[in-house]
Amino acid sequence: MQISNIKRLIFGTMAVAFVVAMTAGTISPAQAEDDSKIAHGGLLYDKWYGITEGDIPRKTNASYPTTAKKKGKTTWRCKECHGWDYRGVDGAYGDTSNSHHTGLKGIRGAAGMDPAKIVASLKSATHGYTSDMMTDMEFNNLAMFVSKGQVDMSKIIDGKMIKGDKVRGKNLYSTICAGCHGDDGKKIKDMPPLGEVAKANPWETIHKIRNGQPGEKMPALRALPLDVSVDIAAHSQTLPE
Ligand code: HEC
Ligand code: HEC
Repeated sequence: MQISNIKRLIFGTMAVAFVVAMTAGTISPAQAEDDSKIAHGGLLYDKWYGITEGDIPRKTNASYPTTAKKKGKTTWRCKECHGWDYRGVDGAYGDTSNSHHTGLKGIRGAAGMDPAKIVASLKSATHGYTSDMMTDMEFNNLAMFVSKGQVDMSKIIDGKMIKGDKVRGKNLYSTICAGCHGDDGKKIKDMPPLGEVAKANPWETIHKIRNGQPGEKMPALRALPLDVSVDIAAHSQTLPE
């Protein structure tokens, strides 16, 4: 797709989402501002060094277990230790045959926590993130995501099945996603078919629909009710692999 078309689609999508949410009275302007900070935090949780301008660590994170399989900068991604489902060892990465298994706990316990405390934890020796890596704004948005932006994936995903309304999801998908991903989810060639991603990793799919894709112009649907994302994700699981 041409960049100009992508841009038009994005602004169209965001404008529609904004108008829908505002006229429905579901969000105030202050909430909209929070949503954009939280979505930015969600992108940072996914792969902060893909969208920041500071230092990128090369050594493996000191808290990354030596028995686990990854090395280098990837061991600094939040999701690598705490999971796409935010549940660490209690979630999908708890399976010892998973190549991302670390045995570390998730961040569910930090939902609702004072963001300042979360920032302090990120800058502590346990985590080792420094001001050379991220700005205050980036640390704050990450903490906002952890405190206010997590969802309880166990309520919306059963096994690997996303519990949404597929029919409603299909309609939403064709208006919001298909312009970029195609009706069959195969239009973007540098990723696997969306149907495959959604079936293999429903937690990552929900995380990305809510917060966007780092470094790409994919919209974050966070300002809309969670059901919208869940229904779209459920439809995505019906797409061809
Ligand atoms: C190398 C592994 C690793 C990475 C990467 C990592 N963490 Fe952690 N995290 C830990 C460990 C270890 C703890 C302490 C767990 C404990 O208390 O048992 C922790 C604890 C936490 C807690 C407190 C959880 C609680 O319930 O009190 C939060 C919040 C947190 N991490 C957020 C993040 C965020 C945000 C990122 C990305 C910027 C991140 N972590 C990246 C290993 C990691
Ligand atoms: C403006 C274009 C655009 C729109 C609209 C868009 N996406 Fe994306 N999406 C992308 C791009 C580009 C990528 C990154 C592909 C890559 O990994 O190279 C991506 C990545 C993804 C991924 C992660 C795939 C992976 O393996 O990393 C998922 C899941 C996804 N999109 C789902 C959706 C859904 C569902 C919608 C509708 C709510 C949507 N996208 C809307 C452009 C878009």
